[in-house]
Amino acid sequence: MKIFVLGSGAGGGFPQWNCNCPNCSGLRAGTLRSSARTQSSLAVNDGGEDWLLVNASPDLRAQLETCPALQPGRAVRDTAIAAVLIVDAQIDHTTGLMTLREHTKRLPVYCTPSVHSDLTTGYPLLTVLEHFRGVDWRPVDAVGRKPFRVPELPGIELQPIPLPGEAPPYSPRRHQPAEDDTIGITFVDRASGQRVFYAPGLGGWTDLVVEHARQADVLLIDGTLWKDDELADRGAADKTGREMGHLAQTGDDGMLERLAAFSGRKILIHINNTNPILDEESPERAKLEAAGIEVAYDGMEIEVG
Ligand code: MLT
Ligand code: MN
Ligand code: ZN
Repeated sequence: MKIFVLGSGAGGGFPQWNCNCPNCSGLRAGTLRSSARTQSSLAVNDGGEDWLLVNASPDLRAQLETCPALQPGRAVRDTAIAAVLIVDAQIDHTTGLMTLREHTKRLPVYCTPSVHSDLTTGYPLLTVLEHFRGVDWRPVDAVGRKPFRVPELPGIELQPIPLPGEAPPYSPRRHQPAEDDTIGITFVDRASGQRVFYAPGLGGWTDLVVEHARQADVLLIDGTLWKDDELADRGAADKTGREMGHLAQTGDDGMLERLAAFSGRKILIHINNTNPILDEESPERAKLEAAGIEVAYDGMEIEVG
């Protein structure tokens, strides 16, 4: 199983268009050792020609050009994207569906009933897409923890679980999220049994999250913020990480402390532009390195099995 990181940044990307925090301005000025990051998305492959797009970011059009395997060129209009899986209904994970409107047939989209509900009401992307070829919704039962396969990628089993989090601002469940507003996925390479646990938005630890993290050979896990109050601290916004459904790397129940308990390869992903770990020369980044924790970057390739 192969995973290509199309976008390793959180909502807004890095640098964010209107942000002059030390990271964003440092990257623009060329004084910060780091690299630009587009918004949160993966492409997953089982060795065949077809790929599963996991989250569709607003940066999708440019991201696809960075992964040549996604455009096999077999016909005038073609793509290797066989289906899309969406882990929450947030703008950074869904807006790229609009970029796929030129698809020549109905696009299979895997998401939970709660995500489907937001994407047909508060942020009605799927309704708009019905005026094009439309999507073929394939419901994901995360509450029932029902494993499934995408028929075009028979080498991979997907195991969905509910994650503590927040519903998007346009959801009627904003501060009372349903269990399936945010999900995590373990991708299992069926030939080798190797497991990759993906949770780009993790608002808390449940027994189930711990179990999936413990069993994972690779963890691709919420790296949004270093500190819960980082946005306020940088004068960027007044929301805390917890209010947005993201656990910070430090503080109470901090990600660093938690990750120490797991033996798999640990990679932080969905990194906000304010996070000091983006600076490769920062003390925070050195702390991660000492703990054996990696920071995802655009174009990163992960292979298991
Ligand atoms: C989040 O992950 O909390 C959201 O994507 C934030 C946003 O982009 O508005
Ligand atoms: Mn996000
Ligand atoms: Zn910034």
